[in-house]
Amino acid sequence: MSQDQELQKLKTDMLGAIESAPDSAALESLRTQALGKKGKLTEMMKSLGKMEAQARKEMGARLNEIKTVLAKAIEARGRVLGAAALNEKLLHEHIDVTLSVRPQDQGRIHPITQTTDEIVTIFASMGFKVAKGPEIETDWNNFTALNLPPDHPARQMQDTFYMPQKGDEPTVLRTHTSPVQIRTMMNQKPPIRIIAPGRTYRCDYDMTHTPMFHQFEGLVIDEKTNMGHLKGCLLDFMRAFFGIDDLPLRFRPSYFPFTEPSAEVDIGCSRKDGKLTLGNHGNWLEVAGCGMVNAKVLKNCGIDPDKYQGFAFGTGIERLAMLKYGIPDLRTFFEADMRWLKHYGFVPLDIPNPALTAAD
Ligand code: DAH
Repeated sequence: MSQDQELQKLKTDMLGAIESAPDSAALESLRTQALGKKGKLTEMMKSLGKMEAQARKEMGARLNEIKTVLAKAIEARGRVLGAAALNEKLLHEHIDVTLSVRPQDQGRIHPITQTTDEIVTIFASMGFKVAKGPEIETDWNNFTALNLPPDHPARQMQDTFYMPQKGDEPTVLRTHTSPVQIRTMMNQKPPIRIIAPGRTYRCDYDMTHTPMFHQFEGLVIDEKTNMGHLKGCLLDFMRAFFGIDDLPLRFRPSYFPFTEPSAEVDIGCSRKDGKLTLGNHGNWLEVAGCGMVNAKVLKNCGIDPDKYQGFAFGTGIERLAMLKYGIPDLRTFFEADMRWLKHYGFVPLDIPNPALTAAD
């Protein structure tokens, strides 16, 4: 076989092997065989030095041409094998990018949380900010500053849990959210417009009383706010909260030490056949206490009552929740009974949107 034939055979054999290389590992080994440092072509290149000038030139050109052809063939086969490998991968490997349905049945929003959110949302739309205070409160913030000095008979209206005294100050579990008014007025300058939801405590237990319950307090202080504003504010709130456009409100004169004048707020209802229905039906149901902040309370907090005035109100969150959602017994709120929560609780993604009610 002439050298030329030998070369031709090498080329054909290598091309055949390359084209039928089964995978990239086999192709890589062919590449080293053909073009690598110890490969056949490189060996032959090395022998060129010993040749005569003319033969070296021809042989060199021939070898280079074969090298180029083989390199191209390897590259082409590489591409084919790469694409096949990718297809194979795509066919057999896949990632499930879909998210399984959320277990909506697993949890519920407690009616207290839901109702608090609704209340806050409605008042936020009227420009109120949320204020908070501690549940263990000083006797002064809970009573004295609110114009309930020690020995005041109105202290009897609230069955108080007195805490063991630690420092100079007697402390109590706050009996209402009204001390948040005091904290706010001591720390902020008017104008003030806050809503204070939170836990409160009284030593009481029956169908409508539990030792721990929730209230929310409202407080507005500026130079001009009057009782008309108080009425309008509560009317707008009650109508938005209960979703009843013509819900009537009645303000009944009452007594609270921290307000003067004071009123109790009733909403319209009917009690036909023992069934309670809210609306303009001629009967009344008490839902809140309110009034114009007593000048003595303003003074206790360092606010000049000749310059500033305003109103306050307070009501029970459970009471509003019971009326809106038809929950008959207060005690059930805190029994942690899953059946109760499944029935009266709210599915997180399915809650009635209080923002829509508030916008009405
Ligand atoms: N703190 C009162 C209570 O728990 C409720 C209340 C009545 C709050 C009148 C007020 C108010 O701010 O003005 O019985």
